[in-house]
Amino acid sequence: MAQVVIVTGGAGGIGSAICRALAQDGLKVIIADFVEEAGRALADEIRKEGGEATVQKVDVGDKASVSDMVQKSLERYPQIDFLINGAGVMSRFPVEEMPEEEWDRVLRINLKGTFLCSQAVARHMVQRKEGRIINVASGRGVAGQPRAAHYAASKAGVIAFTKSLAQELAPYNVLVNAIAPGATDTPMARAGSSAEEWKRREAIPPLMGGLTKKEEIVGLIRYLISEPAKYVTGQTFLLRTPR
Ligand SMILES: NC(=O)c1ccc[n+]([C@@H]2O[C@H](COP(=O)([O-])OP(=O)(O)OC[C@H]3O[C@@H](n4cnc5c(N)ncnc54)[C@H](O)[C@@H]3O)[C@@H](O)[C@H]2O)c1
Repeated sequence: MAQVVIVTGGAGGIGSAICRALAQDGLKVIIADFVEEAGRALADEIRKEGGEATVQKVDVGDKASVSDMVQKSLERYPQIDFLINGAGVMSRFPVEEMPEEEWDRVLRINLKGTFLCSQAVARHMVQRKEGRIINVASGRGVAGQPRAAHYAASKAGVIAFTKSLAQELAPYNVLVNAIAPGATDTPMARAGSSAEEWKRREAIPPLMGGLTKKEEIVGLIRYLISEPAKYVTGQTFLLRTPR
């Protein structure tokens, strides 16, 4: 039976690149996103290319919604092999002007969402004594980010959560790792920068701290779900040196 992957935020810039690539590799892909329409368009595209993809609407910050996502996935397929926690949001505010609701929203989706999805899927993986969870953190979770302290704090939380969960689940052969991209060309990243800032970033060569390419992220995910990575857990893979 082909392997099954849930990708939260699967309809987004990074998530859709992951979904497309894993479907091309023959995995059954569950595109789990708050925005159903974009997910459906992506699923149609994947199917046209001969892959298998379904859409599951989810709010990762809502326990009942996450539980429904996992239940429906397990009604469709007998197992979930991989969970990629890619759903995320960001915004820019200096701390002294940050609305409390904005702090809560970002922490709820980025950090609590990662916890809730991991919790629900880990129960199933622990029973099977097999599975891998990959959390999409950010270089900002290591380096910090002025005018996005809530975002940086949420991603630092994701990194610490990854290390903790990896230790808890190691006895059950469930691996948990994080990837930490640098700025990547997606709607989220463009919305968070001025046009000028973006132009400047685009001009920096990748090896000197420029934009992270989606193919780098996809390549790393492919490695982390591969057989040779079966003893890799609790790690955070930085795709750019944070500064
Ligand atoms: N783009 C970057 O520069 C960058 C860098 C480092 C890390 N990241 C991380 O990568 C991940 C993907 O980001 P992206 O750049 O592709 O952004 P994006 O905005 O293109 O995609 C994010 C996706 O998450 C979904 N989402 C938002 N709230 C949700 C919720 N409550 N429940 C379910 N889905 C929800 C959105 O609908 C969207 O499809 C995020 O976790 C982000 O923090 C992005």
